[in-house]
Amino acid sequence: MDIRYEECKTLKEKPDQNNLGFGKYMTDYMFVCDWHKDQGWHDARIVPYGSIELDPACVTLHYAQETFEGLKAYRREDGKIQLFRPEMNAKRMQKSNERLCMPAFPVEDFVEAVRALVKKEEDWVPSAPNTSLYIRPFMFATESALGVHMATAYKFMVICCPVGAYYATGLDPVKILVEDELVRAVKGGTGFTKCGGNYAGSILGQVKAEKMGYDQVLWLDGETRTYVEEVGTMNIMFKIDGEIITAPIEGTVLAGVTRDSMIHLLRDWGYTVREEHLAVSDLMKAGKEGRLEEVFGTGTAAVISPVGTLRYKDDEVVINDMKTGELTQKLYDTLTGIQWGRLEDKYNWTQTI
Ligand code: COI
Repeated sequence: MDIRYEECKTLKEKPDQNNLGFGKYMTDYMFVCDWHKDQGWHDARIVPYGSIELDPACVTLHYAQETFEGLKAYRREDGKIQLFRPEMNAKRMQKSNERLCMPAFPVEDFVEAVRALVKKEEDWVPSAPNTSLYIRPFMFATESALGVHMATAYKFMVICCPVGAYYATGLDPVKILVEDELVRAVKGGTGFTKCGGNYAGSILGQVKAEKMGYDQVLWLDGETRTYVEEVGTMNIMFKIDGEIITAPIEGTVLAGVTRDSMIHLLRDWGYTVREEHLAVSDLMKAGKEGRLEEVFGTGTAAVISPVGTLRYKDDEVVINDMKTGELTQKLYDTLTGIQWGRLEDKYNWTQTI
């Protein structure tokens, strides 16, 4: 892929690394590439970050033909910058796009675009503890037309922003409400994709949970509202009787990169990890009987989020006395150790820029 560069006239002032929050400060440049049905992908470029003009009839604004990804660049102690499993994001985006009838962006071009943009923005990769450069690749239809159809033109873009913790609570355990009315995904739908529509549909549940004093929502399967699936913006894992259980990837749950990495680590450490359906009633029963040892969410943005309480209808269970569990902490330390280059990467998950 040939990438054309256009330089900024002035560069932005960098924000305070100790107060980054999540997704607030965009960097100086962005990657853009266009697709047209007659030309395929063309005009790959890294240009000054800025607004894009869209026709009010742009199909994305009406029918949400949009997919996205999320990954991070980490500043190691020796100053080098590394990415974590970027090809997994590239492949997952292809799967999302296939479901939404959008063109595939080649895996090697996806990784090259990310690498080129991070290289260009290397001064933006923060070095304060637990900070990173969050990278957001996304694609959307640009055709102007109000008929519902596969569009004739798309844009693939990558933007990035230095970030701290996604949740203000950091590694403190969160309170979760099991949503028993609204649903996030059904088999045959788009639940396994990273498309904007999935997240738009989840906001009402989040608002409801917050009103009731909870941090996040645990979604149940959309057909029977019996089995636990995902939490807010993360996958979720339960340690019950010494074994780890998490929802299987069968079309409704996102195939998380952090989820996959955790499963690798856990199996390597000798844990049994079962990718199986878990009924919320069995989960609450295990909680009441003291067999629910640890619960944690996993995601790129959030890394690991320990769960301290679970509420389902009128029942509530407290997990590990509202403290971060030993295994959750070990997973967090190991994963972040590999990502920031503090620990040996025997899995070949990282690549330096
Ligand atoms: C990520 O974890 O990278 C995500 O994409 C979640 C996002 C909705 C904040």
